[in-house]
Amino acid sequence: MGILEGKRILVTGVLTDASIGFAVAKIAQEEGAQVVLTGFGRLSLVERIAKRLPQPAPVLELDVQNTEHLDTLASRVGEHVDGLDGVVHSIGFAPQTALGGNFLNTTWEDVATALHISTFSYKSLAVACLPLMKEGGSVVGLDFDASKAWPVYDWMGVAKAGLESANRYLARDLGKQGIRVNLVAAGPLRTMAAKSIPGFKEFEDSWPDKAPLGWDLSDTAPAARACVALMSDWFPATTGEILHVDGGVHAIGA
Ligand SMILES: NC(=O)c1ccc[n+]([C@@H]2O[C@H](COP(=O)([O-])OP(=O)(O)OC[C@H]3O[C@@H](n4cnc5c(N)ncnc54)[C@H](O)[C@@H]3O)[C@@H](O)[C@H]2O)c1
Repeated sequence: MGILEGKRILVTGVLTDASIGFAVAKIAQEEGAQVVLTGFGRLSLVERIAKRLPQPAPVLELDVQNTEHLDTLASRVGEHVDGLDGVVHSIGFAPQTALGGNFLNTTWEDVATALHISTFSYKSLAVACLPLMKEGGSVVGLDFDASKAWPVYDWMGVAKAGLESANRYLARDLGKQGIRVNLVAAGPLRTMAAKSIPGFKEFEDSWPDKAPLGWDLSDTAPAARACVALMSDWFPATTGEILHVDGGVHAIGA
């Protein structure tokens, strides 16, 4: 029996089969879950990618900047499942001007876009799903360690620091309803989001050497497995946590 047997899971952020969200959906299905996906913008592409999952999964449109999409999300998800046990936030975006070493010159408008999509949406998504989580559940988000300043990550790093803080506040406010809220801080992975970061190669070059366990830049399974584990019954007393899945880099100094 899989560790998500009988569980109903919403996975956001699937764009290609390299997306971390795709690996989460795949492993969740393999572990027995019923999965519903959301996609942003290029829905026909997401629907095509969804067909590569072990089982067909419905794809619903969700732009986290669109209030109507968020307001109707629970009823649209409710057409496919009678509740949710897990919700995965695998969404991030920052305009090019907010990345790549331009930290001192980025405008507020561009920073605001990054924070809206990458930080505030964690709260928006969790709250939008509450009507389907009456019996408690697990919310998991994807993080990149924000405890230090990195090369080129710039305002996305600030957005992730906000995400880490929002994770703690959501854990505080949703605990009473039996909802756990945790982040998986993954090492660098070659996804569309990563490729759009100018200078991402700096991470690629150093990470595998620095990681005590080594690090495979094209293997999304370790991060996805951690997400699946956090949605299982095996972390019943863990919330507000940040689980590092980075080969151990966070623990190492120079
Ligand atoms: N790739 C990495 O190196 C890495 C490392 C740590 C954490 N992460 C995080 O993992 C998460 C998933 O990213 P990924 O690496 O799988 O890349 P990805 O490009 O496959 O996924 C990013 C997703 O965000 C979605 N998105 C962007 N704007 C949106 C909006 N307005 N509304 C709804 N969805 C929107 C995109 O459609 C896409 O599906 C992100 O939060 C990212 O920051 C990535």
